[in-house]
Amino acid sequence: MRLLLIFVVSVSADLNWWKTALVYQVYPRSFKDSDGDGIGDLKGVTEKLPYLKDTGIDAIWLSPIFLSPMRDVGYDISDYRKIAPEFGTMLDFEMLVRTAKELGLRIILDFVPNHTSNESEWFVRSQKSDPHYKDYYIWADGITKEADQEMLPPSNWVSHFRKSAWKYSEERGQYYLHQFVIGQPDLNYRNEKVQEEMKEVLRFWLDRGVSGFRVDAVNVLYEADPKNYGGRYPDESRSDDPSAVPDDYEYLKHIYTRDLDEVYTTIYDWRQVLDEYTSKGEYKFMVTEAYADVEHLMRYYGAEGRNGSVPFNFGLVDKVNKDTNVVEIKAIIDEWMTKMPAGKVASWVNGNHDQPRLASRVGTNRVDAMNMLALILPGIAFTYQGEELGMTDGFISWEDTQDPRACNTDDPVNYWKHSRDPCRTPFPWDGSLNAGFSTSDRTWLPVADNYKEVNLETEITALKSHYKFYRDVAAIRKCDAIQKGRLDVKALTESILVIVRWIPNAEAVVAIMNLSENTGTVDLSNMEMLTVKLKVVASGVDCNGFENK
Ligand code: NOJ
Ligand code: MG
Repeated sequence: MRLLLIFVVSVSADLNWWKTALVYQVYPRSFKDSDGDGIGDLKGVTEKLPYLKDTGIDAIWLSPIFLSPMRDVGYDISDYRKIAPEFGTMLDFEMLVRTAKELGLRIILDFVPNHTSNESEWFVRSQKSDPHYKDYYIWADGITKEADQEMLPPSNWVSHFRKSAWKYSEERGQYYLHQFVIGQPDLNYRNEKVQEEMKEVLRFWLDRGVSGFRVDAVNVLYEADPKNYGGRYPDESRSDDPSAVPDDYEYLKHIYTRDLDEVYTTIYDWRQVLDEYTSKGEYKFMVTEAYADVEHLMRYYGAEGRNGSVPFNFGLVDKVNKDTNVVEIKAIIDEWMTKMPAGKVASWVNGNHDQPRLASRVGTNRVDAMNMLALILPGIAFTYQGEELGMTDGFISWEDTQDPRACNTDDPVNYWKHSRDPCRTPFPWDGSLNAGFSTSDRTWLPVADNYKEVNLETEITALKSHYKFYRDVAAIRKCDAIQKGRLDVKALTESILVIVRWIPNAEAVVAIMNLSENTGTVDLSNMEMLTVKLKVVASGVDCNGFENK
């Protein structure tokens, strides 16, 4: 009987691990280079797993590690089942998963279903009109308005990375759709074979012991079906953005290329594949990436008895900057918590490899507050590598620029406004050559200029640091009040926010953030759930001389 009880407890831990997970995004190219080629790799990640364990991380999401010509730094995959040689081998991957398991860390892979690379065997064959692969992608004829006129693309659709989303293939004599770079042809999800292929890709990695997936760019999986538009892909109309020019993605209202109803059904189908594996013991997790309004995001959670994914909640990334006050921050929290369907799990994101660094976006003096916020709110917290140190955006010259979103501007002066390279600079482990990231003469992106001050070793040695505070909060996160407790958020003034997590008559954790430059007095005596005397267990870098009364 006693044995049975132990069994039940461990199964339920494995089924619930994701609900309060602290997930750390590793951008493998910039985490740790083990072989001195200037590019981070899987052995580098394995070597640094103890760091993530010590930090209090539960699961690691790895940005794409698969075979790729790297036209969009790995989000253009030529073989979903192979590891990119610059990252290592399948053996290295297996070693990473094994070592992570030994440390109690879970591995989540990046699943990129909207597009493959144009070097994928599927695309090469599709381009040749091979009968099996012919309809794997979105192909369409060009339009010629009058005889002798130049051929135009099938519609006016624009790529996320500027200019037409259609590319002509001489070989096939048709255009293919690419919502991102030319090297990322969009798969055709109206083809049953594609649906099956992609489920097999999920199974392939689940069979290799991963605990789930972060799913890329899900809201653009489907486009309007030409069947409903006289056999054509319909043009999109002009957006309300007056500053956009015709080559810009923002120029159009994307009513035919994003957030289509079919998207959600496909996510629920993938959830079902993951559930096949969940039934073997460990819950297989899925988080989906869509930049969309909250109403659309809520649909990812599931509908009509079908389970879905956890959608990334980008509210804190999209809406918080150097001037945001706590009333506005509370509104972001409240919106998600009130619109989320009952029984579902929230998520909180402070950054990723597509966004300016947290410290650059909200200011270094707000880093601790924002990290604390994500870690104390109910649900899943995502931390992008380096945000725990308060890394800032690095300077990347036009010559060193790698990101296609910046290169596609063809503008050596203004490219930086579009570049995602500044947030992708190598992780600063210490103050030595290349910040201890690599022994190479040259790293794929230069390390950030301030690495001598902002690096892990310095922050571990310092009396107080962003890292130490992050680690302290991550440790407190393990307590019952945060894992299971209720939530109360109160904006006491425009700059002071109090977040309480508590279990009645048992335990309470109070997080207080003061976004002003001034000290203030916080009176918690009228919060009825706080009946016991409180003790300060962690305080941010700029938080000095507070008194308990
Ligand atoms: C979102 C990814 O995060 C981004 O880096 C990539 O460029 C696009 N999706 C296309 O895959
Ligand atoms: Mg390397």
